Amino acid sequence: MLDNKGFDLWADGYDKTVGLSDEENTYPFAGYKDILNAIYREVLKSHANTVLDIGFGTGTLTCRLYEKGLHIFGQDFSSEMIKIAQEKMPEAELYSGDFTKGLCMNLLGKKYDAIIATYSLHHLTDEEKIPFIKSLLPLLNPGGKIYIGDVAFENREDLEDCKEKSLAYWDNEEYYFVYDELKASFSGLCFEKYSFCAGLLTIRK
Ligand SMILES: C[S@@+](CC[C@H](N)C(=O)[O-])C[C@H]1O[C@@H](n2cnc3c(N)ncnc32)[C@H](O)[C@@H]1O
Repeated sequence: MLDNKGFDLWADGYDKTVGLSDEENTYPFAGYKDILNAIYREVLKSHANTVLDIGFGTGTLTCRLYEKGLHIFGQDFSSEMIKIAQEKMPEAELYSGDFTKGLCMNLLGKKYDAIIATYSLHHLTDEEKIPFIKSLLPLLNPGGKIYIGDVAFENREDLEDCKEKSLAYWDNEEYYFVYDELKASFSGLCFEKYSFCAGLLTIRK
């Protein structure tokens, strides 16, 4: 699993690697652009004003919302990713912090209309995911939503199938979302499949 230094090294080439994997329809980023576009559209449609992005990376998604005038907050642990994103979004409130230890105090004191996490929360183990996501619900304004776009599957069988087909590249240190195994923990959890390895999970407050 990449640590913050690993992501620092990846930061400059990140958009290119992701774009290639998406275009070639390969694990892990097949469906990436469609998921980000879907979240972008949904957030704008909901008339959200404040958005929190957890693990924002180079800011691919949030800089588009920023350009539409939304107030962007975020947390990431890679100083290089933060530098790239902050250049694109000078007024955004971006903080450095490891989300496995929770959100920064500055972010905990605010409320958001939308909370986004794309291709970041698979760094939490399955046991860590549930309490972390639950801790985000009180940070939502009424009617707010959490959007998680990631390597994600409807059930464990689909994950195992993808793993078998992508064995040469499969990352055993990442913990991908399985909708069937999470739905009992979140009322109002929805799942939409975007490719053989990507899905969008949404949770309404
Ligand atoms: C694969 S990138 C995704 C970036 C962006 N959200 C996107 O969709 O392109 C994962 C991001 O999460 C950040 N990240 C990974 N683990 C983290 C952690 N434990 N705490 C904070 N940020 C983390 C990385 O630095 C990186 O910017």
